Amino acid sequence: MTKRQIELVRAVTAAVEPWAADLPRFFYTLLFERYPQVRELFPIRMEVQQDRLLRALLMIVDLVDDPQHLATFCADLGRDHRKFGTVTAHYAAVGECLLATLAHYAGPSWTPEAAEAWTAAYNTAAQAMDQAALEDARHRPAVWQARVTGHVRRSHNLAEITVQPDQPYPYRGGQFVSMTTPWWPRTWRYYSPAHAPRRDNSITFMVRALTGGRVSNALVRHAELGDTVTLGPPLGDLALDARSQRAVVCVAGGTGLATARALIEQAVLDGVRRPVDLYVGSRTLEELYAIDDLHQLSRRHSWLAVRATVADELTSGSGTQLLNSLAKQGPWPDHDAFLAGPGALVVSAARVLHRGGIPIERLHHDPFVSLDSVGTP
Ligand SMILES: Cc1cc2nc3c(=O)[nH]c(=O)nc-3n(C[C@H](O)[C@H](O)[C@H](O)COP(=O)(O)OP(=O)(O)OC[C@H]3O[C@@H](n4cnc5c(N)ncnc54)[C@H](O)[C@@H]3O)c2cc1C
Ligand code: HEM
Repeated sequence: MTKRQIELVRAVTAAVEPWAADLPRFFYTLLFERYPQVRELFPIRMEVQQDRLLRALLMIVDLVDDPQHLATFCADLGRDHRKFGTVTAHYAAVGECLLATLAHYAGPSWTPEAAEAWTAAYNTAAQAMDQAALEDARHRPAVWQARVTGHVRRSHNLAEITVQPDQPYPYRGGQFVSMTTPWWPRTWRYYSPAHAPRRDNSITFMVRALTGGRVSNALVRHAELGDTVTLGPPLGDLALDARSQRAVVCVAGGTGLATARALIEQAVLDGVRRPVDLYVGSRTLEELYAIDDLHQLSRRHSWLAVRATVADELTSGSGTQLLNSLAKQGPWPDHDAFLAGPGALVVSAARVLHRGGIPIERLHHDPFVSLDSVGTP
């Protein structure tokens, strides 16, 4: 795309910004009216996530002048879209409705030249997604059906759930998996395998039921042995690089313990020998079992030190104990950091580590948490 086109794409985005709250409803209404067959790809209740698609389209705007980054982002997204049942023809339908939505809200900035620029931007992204999806379809399925083979309640709202995928499910410890259940069809949520890949292909997740949460409650309170869930492809690239000599500080709270354990187990498989200081926080004594697993790993591997805190039940969820214990340590001028757990905890821990000398680019975490506020006072 030319410099002028990039400017036009951005100008339209700025013009529709004041209507950001109205855009998704308009877009989806149009899409489902014009292409009713597409409705069945989306969840029945869309109110929580209804801005997901549109937010991502607007994210493309941020990336239009960074073609390499845009291509990688879109390829990942395209491969992942196979799980929704997205096919080539859908891209034109979504593009048409997106452009019509922008035209509706952009006012005078929607000129023929701007429309052309937006068409080019959308087509670039859509082609990259579709191409990657078609390529992906040659060597792996779009989804895996997985039977529940283990269900252990670890506390009133936490369960360890083991599933057996119907086909090999290659992933790396530290990645996460999207899942949908028969109780909330087409409602996809992410869960993190609590271990590196096993020989028998089974996967265990640590799932916490949130108050009012749909999929998490279904999994913790309704799932039984023999039920079938659907898995999308593994996502994310959190990994301890075996080639780096840097020491590592790792912080995990809540179900982030699953990610931490998988990451460390994968590091063992990869032959990583970097010193790793792992700070873990558990909400209740009942959840200590997860920390015991990590202590066992540290007994076997001298490069791994585990420091655990258990929250007072009354302050559970705040992560205060974990953060206090972390703040007493440091500085970490030459460390890499890995953070896993609830978003608020990840951001708070990132702030402590950043103050302790770790630059933001060496604070690694899942891609859905923004550390934008971490560097600011
Ligand atoms: C990379 C990643 C890895 C993850 N790994 C794990 C893991 O290993 N284990 C784990 O337990 N979780 C994990 N999660 C979180 C998980 O993906 C889900 O977000 C979580 O289970 C909640 O989903 P839900 O469908 O139960 O809740 P939702 O139904 O999406 O609800 C979420 C919250 O919003 C509230 N809410 C729901 N509907 C509304 C509404 N209409 N208006 C206002 N509020 C509403 C609910 O009360 C609830 O508190 C991970 C998330 C990410 C991003
Ligand atoms: C350039 C084009 C597109 C972009 C950038 C895009 C981006 C996204 C993103 C980022 C998400 C959220 C993913 C997640 O959180 O897991 C999403 C969800 C989704 N997309 Fe797309 N998408 C595009 C095209 C399409 C097309 C053509 C279809 C098919 C009709 C489609 C169907 C869906 C569905 C069904 C969801 C799940 C929505 C939900 O869970 O509420 N997308 N899209």
